[in-house]
Amino acid sequence: MKTLVKRTLRRFLAIPSAKLIKLWPSLRLISVIRKISGIQLSAEQLHVIVRALKDKARCRLLVFGLGNDSVLWSVLNRGGVTVFLEDNEPWFREVTRRSSCLTAFLVNYATQRGDWKMFLDSPALLEMALPPEMQNQGWDIILVDGPRGDGDQFPGRMRSIYLASKLVSNAGEVFVHDCEREVEGVYCQAFLGSQNLRAEIKDRFGHLRHYHMTGRCH
Ligand SMILES: C[S@@+](CC[C@H](N)C(=O)[O-])C[C@H]1O[C@@H](n2cnc3c(N)ncnc32)[C@H](O)[C@@H]1O
Repeated sequence: MKTLVKRTLRRFLAIPSAKLIKLWPSLRLISVIRKISGIQLSAEQLHVIVRALKDKARCRLLVFGLGNDSVLWSVLNRGGVTVFLEDNEPWFREVTRRSSCLTAFLVNYATQRGDWKMFLDSPALLEMALPPEMQNQGWDIILVDGPRGDGDQFPGRMRSIYLASKLVSNAGEVFVHDCEREVEGVYCQAFLGSQNLRAEIKDRFGHLRHYHMTGRCH
């Protein structure tokens, strides 16, 4: 019962609270709305991404992983293009039913985190067909917070980090969550490069790295 009330509240508050953050992107407001919405990224981490989105108003934003933050990204980037990729079908159905305004595609990463060393040695295997609707253009901001990578039986973020490095536009921003974990740390180092690292926002629930990517061409 409590969960149902929470979910209903979240559903109806998602758009108004995202609009509030758009108007007034203070850390305190973000912190309150994050708690109500059940977002996993910390308030400081959300704040950094919100600022980047403000700086690149109406941009091309690509997000790996649907979550309770998805409506926020979609509303903040209204007028631009925002696309979400998700591999967990029940979760995909739940989030897209709850928020029909989202442009989201169901994908299959076909990887297991346990194989991360093998993929690191053969990065060509990380190429993946993307939905044709995504067009052959670069993305100004990419957020990698999916797929699940908290166990060897889950897909792991080898493909999403590799694809982010390929799909980001020149001078674009890439944010990767959970970089305190071995696979995310090693793949960021290999494909995004320490020379592009701008900041790391550490939180007890996960470290967010921010990369500013130069020298790309699309
Ligand atoms: C790590 S969560 C983070 C979402 C969001 N960025 C946030 O901060 O709240 C993203 C991934 O976890 C999985 N996930 C999150 N919540 C889930 C749920 N309630 N049920 C199933 N999978 C879930 C999904 O596959 C999704 O791609």
